[in-house]
Amino acid sequence: MKALEIKDLDKHFDSFKAVNGLNLVVEESEIHGFLGPNGAGKTTTLRMIMGLLEPDDGDILIYGKNNDSKDLDVLSRIGYMPERPSFPVHLTSRELLEIYGQTYGIPEEVREARASRLLNKVGLDNYADKRTGKFSKGMKQRLGIAQALISEPDLLVLDEPTAGLDPGGRARMRQIIKEIGKDDITMLISSHLLEEVEKICETVTMIDEGKSVLSGSVEELSHSKTVLQIELMEITSRIINALEDLPKVKEVIRVDDDKEEIKVIASDDEDYRPVVSKTIVDHGGTILKMTDRSRSLEDVYLEVIDGGPEDEQLR
Ligand SMILES: Nc1ncnc2c1ncn2[C@@H]1O[C@H](COP(=O)(O)OP(=O)(O)OP(=O)(O)O)[C@@H](O)[C@H]1O
Ligand SMILES: [Mg+2]
Repeated sequence: MKALEIKDLDKHFDSFKAVNGLNLVVEESEIHGFLGPNGAGKTTTLRMIMGLLEPDDGDILIYGKNNDSKDLDVLSRIGYMPERPSFPVHLTSRELLEIYGQTYGIPEEVREARASRLLNKVGLDNYADKRTGKFSKGMKQRLGIAQALISEPDLLVLDEPTAGLDPGGRARMRQIIKEIGKDDITMLISSHLLEEVEKICETVTMIDEGKSVLSGSVEELSHSKTVLQIELMEITSRIINALEDLPKVKEVIRVDDDKEEIKVIASDDEDYRPVVSKTIVDHGGTILKMTDRSRSLEDVYLEVIDGGPEDEQLR
């Protein structure tokens, strides 16, 4: 089942289209990265999912139901940590979770036990009775996660949970997110940091200028395939057949009809150049040029997101 489905979502601020025909599907139980550069429209989208901002157009379905009427039965299925969580400075962590739990109508004994369990989960049990006004950024982010989990949501939405944290804080946050992910929960996590998404998420949607530009499994996208582009003196079927017979070679493509050029695509990122060149020579071929065109998730990201290396040169 789909935990979240967004279809053709639009949102403009004055004449500026912050979200422009965005589509996103998050399947139940996956940890989905919502990746895009600063200003891509991530926070705006997440706020619309939560019903904090009205879309101009499009549909947002949460477990198949739309959140237009902001019913508690839909809202309590989603937990949300905003971009920079902040809390009333005079409240302790426990008091904050207590009050927040009340707003969901959670009975007192359940609230108390749940608050203690969540504070333990995010490593704040020693700070349960300390006022949040003195908390560091990392502690506030962790309390933000506990707050988002108070209704025991099925879908947890985190807006840049590692932003602004030092490397130790980021590692700790990743650990907490992975622990939470072991429970039966779906997560949508926004980030502009590719390496964070690669470490935490199973699937990813990349967005740019308010549109989704790519979606897929991190495994598939980041396990760079080997793509070798080879110019030969002459392409023969004998060479093509021999290359196709190599283990792990998925495809051999003729680049275009006018050129004696082929692409060899293999299913993992080993260096295939030695075996490919030997196979070609053994089958009577002559290599004029061989280029490695393998791609990593970063290459894919830079290719689809504006502001990649080529745009950089134009500035
Ligand atoms: N309330 C608002 N009024 C006017 N413009 C806004 C408003 N909120 C967001 N924007 C603009 O919409 C665009 C998308 O903003 P958004 O905060 O959704 O981006 P983001 O992907 O979350 O970026 P970041 O990675 O920096 O958090 C930006 O250009 C932003 O300036
Ligand atoms: Mg944002």
